[in-house]
Amino acid sequence: MINPYEHKEAQVIKVSDQGTDIKSFDFKIKDGGLLDYTPGQFFVFSLPGYGESVFVPAEKVGKKNVYDIAVHKLGRVTSRFHQLKTGDTFGIRGPYGNGFDLNKFKGKNILLIAGGIGLVPLRCLLNYYINRNELDLKNRSIQLLYGCRSFGVMIFKDELKKWNRDFDIQISLDEGDHPAGTGMNCYKGVITVLFNKIDIIKNGVAILCGPPVIYKFVVPEVKQVGYNDEDIYLSLERRMHCAGLGTCQHCAVGPYYVCKDGPVFSYAQLKDTVQYF
Ligand SMILES: Cc1cc2nc3c(=O)[nH]c(=O)nc-3n(C[C@H](O)[C@H](O)[C@H](O)COP(=O)(O)OP(=O)(O)OC[C@H]3O[C@@H](n4cnc5c(N)ncnc54)[C@H](O)[C@@H]3O)c2cc1C
Ligand code: FES
Repeated sequence: MINPYEHKEAQVIKVSDQGTDIKSFDFKIKDGGLLDYTPGQFFVFSLPGYGESVFVPAEKVGKKNVYDIAVHKLGRVTSRFHQLKTGDTFGIRGPYGNGFDLNKFKGKNILLIAGGIGLVPLRCLLNYYINRNELDLKNRSIQLLYGCRSFGVMIFKDELKKWNRDFDIQISLDEGDHPAGTGMNCYKGVITVLFNKIDIIKNGVAILCGPPVIYKFVVPEVKQVGYNDEDIYLSLERRMHCAGLGTCQHCAVGPYYVCKDGPVFSYAQLKDTVQYF
């Protein structure tokens, strides 16, 4: 029988600053193993004596056995994570949740919409495609709309610059400071301003992740562009306790548990639960 609490030991191989209060940690599984997951699934990370937190790891580009997580320092566990150095270890168990249904995205244009640290699961998907030569940009378009408070809190800027050579990235910054020299299009205002300024790709799937306000104000814009409820996907983040076991009910949204039924839902599934956002 599978023990849902069984964890692997992982070792930090690099720590990088990714913006205000956000660090990324490159890590390897200590026994040399791989994480078996679908992009969009999450894992539970543990630090003995401090507790557990839920993060979404991504493969490093070009290295399927090296992963990273971006950790936003908020409370007890994430603050302790920020003290980790190269060589330190932590526990990891999972994956949990459903992840993205990659079959439904095959051959389709992909509109990615992220707010703040919500870029994390979308980057996990992009790196997964890149490592398997599945971006398929000859046959489809990918566009990323990324909204942040300021340039200082934008994460994975170096990767954004690289991606910007291959597909369209459009950025909105609430405070309007311009990322001079990055070559990326940047507009002042909240992410919805982009819908009036640029051509949004159509005829595909739209995938959103960010704070709840994103779902409330961005979904109507995406629908206005012509996306059906079934083709709009939301990756939700909720406070979790049992994280993936479906026993504590902390992550309930309407009839669903985000940790078991999600975190990825179609808008068709969620549209009657918007009052919970
Ligand atoms: C599916 C999923 C994926 C996630 N992926 C990532 C990720 O890749 N990187 C990352 O940095 N974080 C991610 N998170 C959020 C992360 O799990 C929490 O921020 C973290 O567990 C906080 O732990 P803590 O002990 O430091 O904070 P605590 O001491 O437990 O709480 C500190 C403060 O943060 C608030 N808080 C805690 N958890 C959340 C939450 N989930 N949403 C909003 N506020 C919260 C609390 O209300 C409190 O005010 C994810 C969450 C989910 C559910
Ligand atoms: S976190 Fe316990 S049911 Fe989802």
